[in-house]
This record gives sequence, structure tokens and C-alpha cells, in this order.
Amino acid sequence: MDAAAWNDRYAAAKFVWSTEPNQFLAAEVADLPPGRALDLACGEGRNAVWLATLGWDATGVDFSDAGLGKAAKLAEANEVTAKTRWVCADATSWVPDEQFDLVAVAYLHLPEPLRRAAMSVAVAALAPGGTLVVIGHDATNITEGVGGPPDPAVLYGPDDIVGDLHSADPALVVERAERVLRAVRVETDGGAEERHAIDCLVRVRRP
Ligand SMILES: C[S@@+](CC[C@H](N)C(=O)[O-])C[C@H]1O[C@@H](n2cnc3c(N)ncnc32)[C@H](O)[C@@H]1O
Repeated sequence: MDAAAWNDRYAAAKFVWSTEPNQFLAAEVADLPPGRALDLACGEGRNAVWLATLGWDATGVDFSDAGLGKAAKLAEANEVTAKTRWVCADATSWVPDEQFDLVAVAYLHLPEPLRRAAMSVAVAALAPGGTLVVIGHDATNITEGVGGPPDPAVLYGPDDIVGDLHSADPALVVERAERVLRAVRVETDGGAEERHAIDCLVRVRRP
């Protein structure tokens, strides 16, 4: 999907995604002291705004200005406008204007060459000593999980992401690279049932 398609998707006032932070990002950030955070492909800003409420100076980058407009409103509603900055840019070619103690990339799904370019941008934005967390729908989710993009060409696994990150900087230290399960409530004919989506979670640190 290009920026215009994402703008259409974000056009309604109602939030497309949850306004709560991603559960895996929240767990990975729990042991980090607040500093400068980058949320690459931030969408409607749920993760960047949540980080700002914890005291982080949060920058959200996305190529959808409609998404960023909603992110700014979410920041205002959470009284963290002064702790947030929104940048409309392509995540595959953006040149970071500072370095960040935390870089998060959540559910950015692109064909492999573009994904690799976005991971290279994420690595370029990472400060020495900083932590980079990548979360997305795992490649196995199509057949074994629920939800997420149905196109295998934009899905990935932990080894793909580690490969992308190490090709940008072989010195990155891998702290986690695994598949994780996320509970999802699915409507059924008889009502609703809980199933599990399979996500890919990678956490690396720059020495
Ligand atoms: C599934 S949403 C995830 C949003 C957010 N990270 C979250 O977890 O709520 C994917 C986001 O990636 C953005 N995106 C896709 N391709 C992009 C690109 N090349 N540059 C910047 N943003 C992009 C879309 O605009 C969309 O907001």
C-alpha cells in the first residue's frame, strides 16, 4: 500500500488500530530508562504517545499525513504534545536527524528490498548503547495464526529481520529473536472465540 492508500485507510475519525501500545513493545521497554525514542512507521501514534507518557521524547515517522494527524490528536488527548514530534517521511529513505536510545518498528510490512531499506534506516537512527525493537506479523501467521496481511511477500520471520539488521551493522547484539503469540478475539457464527496471532519479535542493542 502506498501513502495515498494509507491516507484513505486513516481518513475516518475513528482509530483503525488500538490506541493502546503494543504489548510486546511495552514489555521490552519496561526495563529501559526514558530517553529519545523513534517510532518508525508510527501510524496513528499509539506507541510513540505511550512512550511520551512514560517520559520519553518521542518522534513518530510515517508517510501518511492522515495517520500523523490522528497521532497528534492522540498526543493532545494524553497531554504529551510537548514530548512528541511527528515527521511525514518514507521509512525506507528517511535520513534520521538525530540518534535515538530506542527505535521501534511495529507492523511495517513491505516487500523484501524495501523492508531491508527500512531496517537500515532504523539502524542508522540508533544511538550507541541504544535498543531497537522490531515487531510484526510472522511469516507463519498466514497458515497457523490469525489476521495480518495475507501476502507472504511482505511477511518475515526473526531470521529475516536479524539478517536485515546485521547487514546494516554486523556489530549489533541480538538480545531476542523469536516468534511470540498474541491473543486475538475472533467473531464466529456462534459468538466469539480467542485465537492466537503469531508475531515476530526481534530486539537488538548497539554496543
Ligand atoms: C499496520 S500500520 C502500523 C502502525 C503502527 N506502527 C502501529 O503499530 O500501530 C503500518 C504503517 O506503516 C506505514 N508505512 C507503510 N509503508 C511506509 C513507508 N514506506 N514509509 C513510512 N511509513 C510507511 C503506514 O502508513 C502505516 O501507518
